[in-house]
Amino acid sequence: MNLIKDIYSKAKKNFSIIVLPEASVSERVLNAGLTAAKNGLAKIIFIGGDDLKKYETNNIKVVDINNYENYDILKNQLYEKRKHKGLTLDEADKLLKDPIYFGTMLVECGYADGLVAGAVSETARVLRPALQIIKGEDGIKTVSCTTILTGKKINNKASAIVLSDPALVEKPTAEQLADIAIASAKTCRSVLELEPVVAFLSYTSISKKENETNLLIKKAMQILKERNVDFVFDGELQVDAALDPTVAKLKAPESKVLGNANCLIFPDIVSGNIGYKLMQRGGELQVIGPITQGLKKPVNDLSRGATVEEIIICIALTAGAKENKK
Ligand SMILES: CC(C)(COP(=O)(O)OP(=O)(O)OC[C@H]1O[C@@H](n2cnc3c(N)ncnc32)[C@H](O)[C@@H]1OP(=O)(O)O)[C@@H](O)C(=O)NCCC(=O)NCCS
Repeated sequence: MNLIKDIYSKAKKNFSIIVLPEASVSERVLNAGLTAAKNGLAKIIFIGGDDLKKYETNNIKVVDINNYENYDILKNQLYEKRKHKGLTLDEADKLLKDPIYFGTMLVECGYADGLVAGAVSETARVLRPALQIIKGEDGIKTVSCTTILTGKKINNKASAIVLSDPALVEKPTAEQLADIAIASAKTCRSVLELEPVVAFLSYTSISKKENETNLLIKKAMQILKERNVDFVFDGELQVDAALDPTVAKLKAPESKVLGNANCLIFPDIVSGNIGYKLMQRGGELQVIGPITQGLKKPVNDLSRGATVEEIIICIALTAGAKENKK
């Protein structure tokens, strides 16, 4: 399976409408949006003013916040969604002047199918509106992020793995860690088309060490057992025991993972973020994501270092999200 090709073909099949709120402040986003539209990966909405109008085509629309025909619909819907939190109509009006809130409302109200931002904005700024407005899918308490690393053989079977959560849930509880594992297994099936083998990572392998991290992992695994999940999982495991069968035989021979992990679950955002960036830089692997898991509609956050190519892939992944939910 060629992962990037597969992401592109799902995007082309859906041809969804993707909002890019940062095109007027980031040339990378502008170029990625133009290429994605030209290659039939998505219809694009740029949020911006007259300076972007010259880019309009059949597949590219420019929406000016200050001159948008459905502005009042968005304002009233935002007010309705958040009035129980004390939001007033005036405050809704002010929030909508922020392109990311405005873009999120375009998605929420069905004028677009997904949103990609983060080339210049911090993760919290990109994801908070989605968490507040779009919310998690039914039955999902914890929305989380994952990244896909691909490019060469990572364990003895897979040339792509998912790695969670490097970007959203800062210090997960056991319940949240279990949710992250379930969402990652689902991403592994839908995007990588692989049967998930989940490893909860730590700095020891199936030890009797009762430190905070290992106890957290034990609790999360207990929750997965109680929920009777339909995928292989084990922990705690070191990265080498998770990914290398030879090391696994020495360090965790009784484990069900046996060096075949394709979903790596980090105990917190600190280790997850450092871990994926080390693999990206040191291992020269391609990163896809971070991808948000569990939202009702797709909103994806870019790394601020994202290249034009990475932004195009993220647009395609967001455009093809409906296909992954099937
Ligand atoms: C994203 C983030 C800002 C959310 O933080 P927060 O303090 O919970 O935000 P808020 O309190 O404003 O919460 C907003 C809403 O989202 C909900 N929410 C927050 N995190 C959630 C999650 N993981 N899943 C589902 N809902 C969530 C809250 O319940 C709240 O809902 P409500 O307003 O309807 O009650 C925070 O998790 C964060 O900063 N994460 C790290 C991001 C980061 O710096 N990443 C860098 C790596 S690139």
